[in-house]
Amino acid sequence: MPGLTRELGIDLGTTNTVIAEGSQILLQEPTTVAIVSDEYKMVEWGQAAQDMEGKVPETIEIVHPMQHGVIAEYEVTETLLGYLARKVCGQMRVFRPRMMITIPYGATSVEARAVHEAGIGAGSREVYLIPAPLAAALGVDLPISTPSGNMVISLGGGVNQVAVVSLNGIVSADASRTGGLAFDDAIQAYVRKRFGLIIAQPTAEQLKIKIGAAIPQDEQMSLEVQGVDQITSLPRPVVLTTDDVVEALQESLTEVVKLAKKVLEKTPPELISDIIDRGAALVGGGALLRGIDKYLTRSLGIPVYIVDNPLTCAAEGAVKALALRDALKRSLLAG
Ligand SMILES: Nc1ncnc2c1ncn2[C@@H]1O[C@H](COP(=O)(O)OP(=O)(O)OP(=O)(O)O)[C@@H](O)[C@H]1O
Ligand SMILES: [Mg+2]
Repeated sequence: MPGLTRELGIDLGTTNTVIAEGSQILLQEPTTVAIVSDEYKMVEWGQAAQDMEGKVPETIEIVHPMQHGVIAEYEVTETLLGYLARKVCGQMRVFRPRMMITIPYGATSVEARAVHEAGIGAGSREVYLIPAPLAAALGVDLPISTPSGNMVISLGGGVNQVAVVSLNGIVSADASRTGGLAFDDAIQAYVRKRFGLIIAQPTAEQLKIKIGAAIPQDEQMSLEVQGVDQITSLPRPVVLTTDDVVEALQESLTEVVKLAKKVLEKTPPELISDIIDRGAALVGGGALLRGIDKYLTRSLGIPVYIVDNPLTCAAEGAVKALALRDALKRSLLAG
């Protein structure tokens, strides 16, 4: 019965899960689950579970079931996905949804199969898998079906990916299992080294988001955060500036440049000239770091621009890919 099957595009990210249907975003929440430790029962999920981090009693555990874009905790992932599918589709006994789920470029067949199985286990009748940068390219309407160079740089929470797409397929790509969480690590390490203070990951992330940048900014911002003195173990505040965060992030940013350069080196010159004309699309939460477009444009020698929907384009593209699955079939992965 056409029209009755729900078609969902799912971006199962390390940090955030996004579900799209048609042109709508049905759900956008942290990929975080609170479980009762000994029963493996889910008590909270998404933002509510994320807000519990660091504040739970022994009996409850906060789990991030996706690590570096792949499943780290299978049971928890399947439970979460099943819950979310029922939440957006209702009880799905009759019309089970069709799902297109993103996986990182370079995921192994074992990692891909786990995502496929989690989708089936979550109640889907058909599960397709799409490399995340290809989904993102579709989600930002790049003309990927034409013989032309379309470059995507995806900076996620746990994996950075760069791909050049032409004729509905990936021509050259690479991924490194590091992302925004490693940016947070770098800020934590900087504060420890420079001020002898230990700060938590969420504090480092706040510094990155509220005052951070890839390059020095005209407007210097500052933020006071609390940490614990490395020697006395007593709480102590510290004020950081935008320049501090810029300095803390330089090494991680250099890694992004290296990854993109590696991909450009593998890309045929015919496609490079298109990329120089049209620029590379920057997607993922990392695209929101102040000045990162300028930084990458300067470092790579090609124009790099931030898309309008960096956090949702992979899910939006995944939905589009369901309708295009014949044209894309060589690029989709079977579980
Ligand atoms: N304004 C901002 N500046 C810098 N980083 C940001 C900003 N907003 C979000 N981020 C970072 O973006 C990351 C999350 O991005 P995103 O939701 O695209 O990742 P994901 O898809 O869950 O992960 P992955 O693709 O690696 O599996 C987090 O590390 C977060 O700190
Ligand atoms: Mg992602």
